[in-house]
Amino acid sequence: MANVNSQVSRLDAKSTNSGEDLSSTSAVLGHSPIEFPEITKGSGEGGAKVISVVNQKGGVGKTTTTINLGAALAELGRRVLLIDFDSQASMTTGLGIKPAQIKEQYGSIWYLLNDSAANPADFIVKSNVPGLDFIRGHADLAAAEAAFVSEIAKEHKLRKILAPLLSIYDDILIDCSPSLGTLTINALTASTGVLIPMECEYFAVLGLGLVKTTIDKIRENTNPSLEVYGILATMFDRKTAHSREVLELIYNEFPKELLDTIISRTVRFSESTVKGEPITTYASTSPGAISYRRLARELISRGGSK
Ligand SMILES: Nc1ncnc2c1ncn2[C@@H]1O[C@H](COP(=O)(O)OP(=O)(O)OP(=O)(O)O)[C@@H](O)[C@H]1O
Ligand SMILES: [Mg+2]
Repeated sequence: MANVNSQVSRLDAKSTNSGEDLSSTSAVLGHSPIEFPEITKGSGEGGAKVISVVNQKGGVGKTTTTINLGAALAELGRRVLLIDFDSQASMTTGLGIKPAQIKEQYGSIWYLLNDSAANPADFIVKSNVPGLDFIRGHADLAAAEAAFVSEIAKEHKLRKILAPLLSIYDDILIDCSPSLGTLTINALTASTGVLIPMECEYFAVLGLGLVKTTIDKIRENTNPSLEVYGILATMFDRKTAHSREVLELIYNEFPKELLDTIISRTVRFSESTVKGEPITTYASTSPGAISYRRLARELISRGGSK
């Protein structure tokens, strides 16, 4: 762990070629640096935080964040469960499950949604990272909208599935699909809070309002205590002024929600997906891995994880 911590300190102090430190929101915007406490073990108390990783915009880093934040939390000694709640099942693939295995309905979260007698504990798969478990996705999740249309309390299906697992885990992360339909409503209803990855690109900012409106509707209707754990700036490009401008825009609009940790754009994320493992193991000392470890510590220190 000392090794990990020293890497974090190095990133915190890292400078670009131009001599500028661009490793965090505070560094980019010229605010005072923020340090997060070192945490080296899980709370061990049970009663998991449930975090929906949400944005209706596609390709902003939801799946990448779910996998790598999950792996970083597990590295801290926490018990972590990931739910693949997207019909693309990219989280499941990203954790090394072969496409042929994903075709099987039994074993997927889709099966659990459809069979209330099934035991969720039987569907948990261990990843290659100690302490990091997951329940895999399935293509038929795409049919959820139509399949559950006439069901009573359809928004609460995932909450009921997760209820018996809350005492087993410290953190449960749900990788949502790029929509704000039935599945995402289920995820938000089952969650204690939301993490919103946001690509550092102008059009992405415009979509944030829609996410906030959905969160407000969920608070009014199915989950009054739903929190926003943070907005995570992803795919930050150190070389462009545009990324910096977008970050400033988000900060001006959402100063409390914007997290200090920034995820930079790097090809290592796509490479690690192909390898079917988190960046924290595939490229353990890379800036991407270090940033997700910092995110884990930031979320814990903000209360977005115990
Ligand atoms: N920080 C990053 N730098 C470079 N590439 C990234 C980064 N984060 C994610 N990617 C890549 O961008 C693509 C989209 O990322 P990801 O699948 O995590 O987004 P998503 O929001 O889950 O997409 P979808 O909405 O389709 O579910 C992937 O190929 C991923 O490897
Ligand atoms: Mg995804």
